[in-house]
Amino acid sequence: MTTGSVHEMFVPPGSALRGAVRVPGDKSITHRAILFGLLAEGTTQVYDWLDAGDCRSSIRVARLLGATVTEEEDGHLVITGTGGRLREPEDVLDCGNSGTTMRVFLGAIAARSPFAVLTGDGSLRRRPMGRVIDPLSRMGARIQARSGRFAPLAVTGGPLTGIEYTLPVASAQVKSAILVAGLLAQDGVTVVTEPEATRDHTENLLSAFGVQVHREAFGTGTRIAVESGQVLRGATVHVPGDLSSAAFLIAAAALVPGSEVTVTDVGLNATRTGMLRVLNRMGARVQLDRLRRVSGELVGDITVTHGPLVGVEIEPAEVPSLIDELPVLAVLAAFAEGKTRVHGAAELRVKETDRIAAIAQGLRDIGCEVDEAEDGFTVHGRGALRGGTADSRGDHRIAMSLAVAGLASTMGVRIRDWDCVQISYPTFAQTLAKLGAELREQPAPAL
Ligand code: S3P
Repeated sequence: MTTGSVHEMFVPPGSALRGAVRVPGDKSITHRAILFGLLAEGTTQVYDWLDAGDCRSSIRVARLLGATVTEEEDGHLVITGTGGRLREPEDVLDCGNSGTTMRVFLGAIAARSPFAVLTGDGSLRRRPMGRVIDPLSRMGARIQARSGRFAPLAVTGGPLTGIEYTLPVASAQVKSAILVAGLLAQDGVTVVTEPEATRDHTENLLSAFGVQVHREAFGTGTRIAVESGQVLRGATVHVPGDLSSAAFLIAAAALVPGSEVTVTDVGLNATRTGMLRVLNRMGARVQLDRLRRVSGELVGDITVTHGPLVGVEIEPAEVPSLIDELPVLAVLAAFAEGKTRVHGAAELRVKETDRIAAIAQGLRDIGCEVDEAEDGFTVHGRGALRGGTADSRGDHRIAMSLAVAGLASTMGVRIRDWDCVQISYPTFAQTLAKLGAELREQPAPAL
């Protein structure tokens, strides 16, 4: 079930949210399972994958590159791989809104596809691709791009050589593209150094596909090495719930009086859980239970109870571990007492939209004072928000962050351009309804 073509959503102030729910599968892990399924020899089974716009883009691209992808009756995906022999796609590879599809698949395409053209929607065509084109070109890739750094990209695949590369921006997508290209290169070892640790799902999942990945700590970051020529073997992957989707429910539970919400079976990889650490500092009551390992990833249940919050400092070093949660953390900060300052987060400006500008304007539109900086923002929390009308700018995480604000606001929030939630969390409104929140698809009366 989806929310259909609702262009606006009105989120009235909510009563207490209570109950236990699951969230859809992790987006990052689903993309990687599809890509590695395409590259592997044999069959890959993917359980609890994220069935949403972005991962559908990866499936579409994987099929055009030669994978057979079927959905079984119980919903799991079966992927028959190419053993790394990619087919020349007979059409343009449309990556939709998905930066992960474009950047990480590019590593494989540059090494193995005879010729391919990658494009995406208006948002993706504005996002920086030089960060992947540069290192891949140093490996020998032939990639042409609009204005040298934007999609559409035209790629003539060919033999690559391993490189040593230090990431100039903390990006798991760039790291993953280079590691995949290094693995599929004709020769050499590829070593990627990341000064700050970014999500390591690629490394974890490559191991599950039988690839040897060497990792060592490097200051506050990591150094990762892969040798070319290793064969990926089809695997069975159980995708944990996406913490980045759970973040909206967690935030809503922390903000709406009387709430207690448990989100079960969520991925708790330490490279992703910065938001939970910040919530603790803000004074929220967060409990983790049933911790265990599934398909190489730490998984558990998160219970959050409503309570008062205080403003905090979010440091640059912790930004990669909460990068996608910063919009909803800004909403939490608006309801906290005191100032919350985020810096070292310039990357937010080149996400699906400029998320610093989008969340700052969205919060101002509903009654909060926010100062913008080039690399972050300061939210002046006053313990409450009026509500009003705000715009998602077509960005799924902005839309859902504004919905959380609506639930905790005095008058509710009307969100323009709501359909983008399909990109990562098509069942968001239904899950909130299960917890007791009522979202209205009809345009609300003027506030
Ligand atoms: C992702 C990495 C992050 C994140 C994005 C998904 C991934 O982007 O913001 O939503 O799956 O590797 P960057 O690698 O650009 O920081």
